[in-house]
Amino acid sequence: MKILITAGPTREAIDPVRYISNRSSGKMGYAIAEAAVAAGHEVILISGPVALSAPEQAHLTQVTTAEEMYAAVANQIGEQVDLAVFCAAVADYRPVEAAEQKIKKSHAEQMTLVLEKTRDILANVRGKMNFPGLLVGFAAETNDLEKHARDKLSKKKCDLIVANLVNDPETGFDVDENELQLFYADGQSEKMPRQTKTLLAEKLIEIFAKLGEARS
Ligand code: PMT
Repeated sequence: MKILITAGPTREAIDPVRYISNRSSGKMGYAIAEAAVAAGHEVILISGPVALSAPEQAHLTQVTTAEEMYAAVANQIGEQVDLAVFCAAVADYRPVEAAEQKIKKSHAEQMTLVLEKTRDILANVRGKMNFPGLLVGFAAETNDLEKHARDKLSKKKCDLIVANLVNDPETGFDVDENELQLFYADGQSEKMPRQTKTLLAEKLIEIFAKLGEARS
C-alpha cells in the first residue's frame, strides 16, 4: 500500500518567540510510519515539529502550522494513496494575528488572545480533497471516549477511528506506551490493551491492511 501518515503537533505563532500548540511527541505517528515501512509499504510522513528521526525510507514533509499541514496533505493525498492515517495533534484554533515583533510585558494583569478556527484537515479529506481510499482518524479524549470517537467517525467520514484517553500519565501523550480502542464504521469496536507504541503500531498496520483488502 501507499500510506500517508500525519504525526506530531502543529504550532500557531503568537509572536516570533511564542506559540500555542497541542501536546504530542510524535511517538505514536512515527511508530506507525516505522511499522508501515517495515511491512514493505510506501510511506509519506507529514510531520509537525518533533524530536524524532523519521524512517529513512519514508518520504518526509516537515511542517509547522495547521495550514501548512493542510496544504501538504492536500498536495500529496490522491488516488495513488491507498490509506491515510491522521495521528497528528493539530491545533483547532490559532491567533487571528501573529505579532511581527515580540509582545512586550505591559502593566496590565491580564491580556486577551483572540483565536480563530483552523481548517480541519481530516474533515476535508473525503469532500474537498476527494480521497477515495481507506481513511483512519485518531481521537484523543479525556472523557466519554466512545461517544466522542463515534461522533468523529461519522462527522469526518472515516472508516476507522483509533481512540485513546489522554489523561493517564502512563499512556497517551509523550510516553512509550498507549492503550487504544478502535471504532469501525460498521459499528464494531475493539480494545487494544496497554503496550508499547511500537507493538501497537505493528498490529495497527496489520489491521489496516486487512481492512484495505476487505474494502477492495
Ligand atoms: O504523539 P504522542 O506523544 O505519541 O501522542 C499520541 C497522540 C495522543 C497525540 C495520538 O495517539 C493521538 O491521539 N492523535 C490525535 C490527536 C488529536 O488531535 O485528536 P483530536 O481528537 O483532536 O482530532 C481528531 C482527528 O482529527 C485526528 O485524527 C486529528 O489528526 C484530526 N484533525 C484535527 C484537527 C484538525 N484541524 N485537523 C485534523 O486533521
